[in-house]
Amino acid sequence: MSFKVNDHVTWVGKIDWELRKFHGEELSAHHGSTYNSYLVRGPEKTVLIDTVWGPFAKEFVKNLKKEIDLKKIDYIVANHAETDHSGALPELLREIPDTPVYCSNAGTKSLRGHYHQDWNFKPVKTGDKIELGGGKELVFVEAKMLHWPDSMFCYLTGDSILFPNDAFGQHYATEYMFNDLVDQNELYAEAIKYYANILTPFSKLVTAKIKEVVGMNLPVEMICPSHGIIWRNDPLQIVNKYLEWADSYQENQVTIIYDTMWDGTRRAAEAIASGIKKSNTETNIKLFNAARSDINDIITEIFKSKAIVVGSPTINKGILHSIASLMEMVKGLGFQNKKAAAFGCYGWSGESVKMINGLLEEAGFELINKDGLRMLWNPDEEAVEKAKTLGHEIGTAIK
Ligand code: FEO
Repeated sequence: MSFKVNDHVTWVGKIDWELRKFHGEELSAHHGSTYNSYLVRGPEKTVLIDTVWGPFAKEFVKNLKKEIDLKKIDYIVANHAETDHSGALPELLREIPDTPVYCSNAGTKSLRGHYHQDWNFKPVKTGDKIELGGGKELVFVEAKMLHWPDSMFCYLTGDSILFPNDAFGQHYATEYMFNDLVDQNELYAEAIKYYANILTPFSKLVTAKIKEVVGMNLPVEMICPSHGIIWRNDPLQIVNKYLEWADSYQENQVTIIYDTMWDGTRRAAEAIASGIKKSNTETNIKLFNAARSDINDIITEIFKSKAIVVGSPTINKGILHSIASLMEMVKGLGFQNKKAAAFGCYGWSGESVKMINGLLEEAGFELINKDGLRMLWNPDEEAVEKAKTLGHEIGTAIK
């Protein structure tokens, strides 16, 4: 399959309807994904921007041959070395081995590290360009740590198209392939999930890079990312969303995440929710049993929250593994400007709440209540009231 993005650009990627896990098993992809590769035909030169994930390499090259004689590809651009975009390079470069591969300096290292090939690398920096004839140029913009050291954007003059690789993308399989054609709720749910789970740690760089690119005063007719749809209708809408998301994003929401063995910690979670509701009727309160929910969906809800409340009973002097695993992910993402509290039941030693408090502080959350709420055995009426009181305190703290 291929389709025309405009008169000069043809999409030659792969729609992966089956994908459900990305980055190994780390990231859920409920709506599949796409690996977008673009063939740009200038008046004199032809460029291929990015390829697809390795398992689709043969299919990709076979389809590409239907679109163009491979020998007519003058240049390859590898905006990013991660294998979902570079995975078909070995298959392709076996056929056209001398074709120059344009990438950032770090890209040469990453691509060599992945494939152990001495391809015809052409390292580029911000402002370097390829002439495509007739005054049309492909201009490179390094985008270090968005989200890898090698990440890079490129911009097609004349057509005014930005190719930002992973930035502004979504794991979203669709045959429509343009932003104005798809369900907007699905699109934005996947876009925010992508940002929350992948780009959160780099938010300061996101803001700086957007300001840098906006400062170049380039017209933008389309944004063609490497995953999901092409932004052709009001393409800057996603750029403005990224500026919002990068700025310690919050909605008026509290997310309560817990795991439970015999329902005590669940009952406490619900009592905390009722306390929040009583003190703050405006706040959206969501509860998730971490062991029964998708961890990346929970991360997205945390991203949207002003505060989180995390609960686990004590087991073996520690916490349940679903909460430990979630907190490891939360720590790595480095959320900014969020509050938190901890709670949990115990039978004898009772370390869980102190441990969760420590993990929350380590992850940069401001504790609303330094002690948290420890409940001996299953919460009795007095403990339930204490949980409601904690909820009240949380609801008031985020007003
Ligand atoms: Fe879509 Fe960073 O790879």
